[in-house]
Amino acid sequence: MSHSNLLRPRRLRRSSANRGLMRETRLHPEDLIYPMFVCEGEGKRHPIDTLPGQFRYSIDTLIESCKRNFDLGISTVNLFGYCIDKSEHADAAIDANGLIPRAVRALKDSIPGLCIQTDLALDPYTPHGHDGLVVDGEIVNDPTVNVLCHMALAHARAGVDWVSPSDMMDGRVGAIRRTLDAEGFEQVAILAYSAKYASCFYSPFRGALDSTPGQGDKKTYQMDPANRIEAFKEVQLDVDEGADAVMVKPAGMYLDLVREVRNRVNLPVAAYQVSGEYAMIHAAAEKGWLDRDAAMLESLLCIKRAGADMILTYFAPEAAAALTKNP
Ligand code: PBG
Repeated sequence: MSHSNLLRPRRLRRSSANRGLMRETRLHPEDLIYPMFVCEGEGKRHPIDTLPGQFRYSIDTLIESCKRNFDLGISTVNLFGYCIDKSEHADAAIDANGLIPRAVRALKDSIPGLCIQTDLALDPYTPHGHDGLVVDGEIVNDPTVNVLCHMALAHARAGVDWVSPSDMMDGRVGAIRRTLDAEGFEQVAILAYSAKYASCFYSPFRGALDSTPGQGDKKTYQMDPANRIEAFKEVQLDVDEGADAVMVKPAGMYLDLVREVRNRVNLPVAAYQVSGEYAMIHAAAEKGWLDRDAAMLESLLCIKRAGADMILTYFAPEAAAALTKNP
């Protein structure tokens, strides 16, 4: 006697065409934001040991690389400065002619269609590697916010499209918004690192900027990975303070939060596939344990399925190339 199953979900998986018809999530190069590292000098493209395939670019090679990636469909970059002139007060961070403002101007001149975001935090600019100013061993909140506001203005004057505060100081989104508006930069958007966790998965990034904290960790400002409800509090504050998009970081191990935040807010949600997530896939692929491209695309697709509208990832150009070949 033959079975008669009325319900056969496999029917819709039978062919590639059927699978295409029922596919719920599609990754597109436009979803991706490419984090890049900028350094002083000319003709530099310095490989970053802890991030295979990633480089510190001087402004000229940054432009070349962004042009190539722009043609692949990467229309947004997020810039981090590699600062050699570190100081207690992070003076280089607010220099109107500093590295990042110069990079923004040069990129805007060469690739007008490129959307530029810049990181706001003090860790690359201070000798101690903390995201804020340190007074008597404490990361002081309000004086840091003040510096971040100046930093945002320096970037805005250079023509940045978005500033992205990654520091986790209280009240900085509102303060930055008010500062930008007061100076006529209402059009500069804020991508707020809202639920940013004190994660071990950032360590390859700190190698890229020589910004590993000399003393202590970042647990007094970044969130405890054990917490979920606190993330909604942080996200809501940034929404109320005027963020244009909110971020969950890291991404891959925090997909529950990406989904919950997506369900709760009516702003775009960003997720950052951080350096450690990228490095793990690379390392496993080098060992022959994972197919790098497949792992890259699956990890990004899953971040999107979880609810991210935009994904910061070091894979951006490679993923765009792979998607264009085989969408
Ligand atoms: C610091 C900053 C970090 C990252 C982005 N901005 C590191 C940290 O908080 O220590 C991590 C990015 C990554 O790991 O890819 N403001």
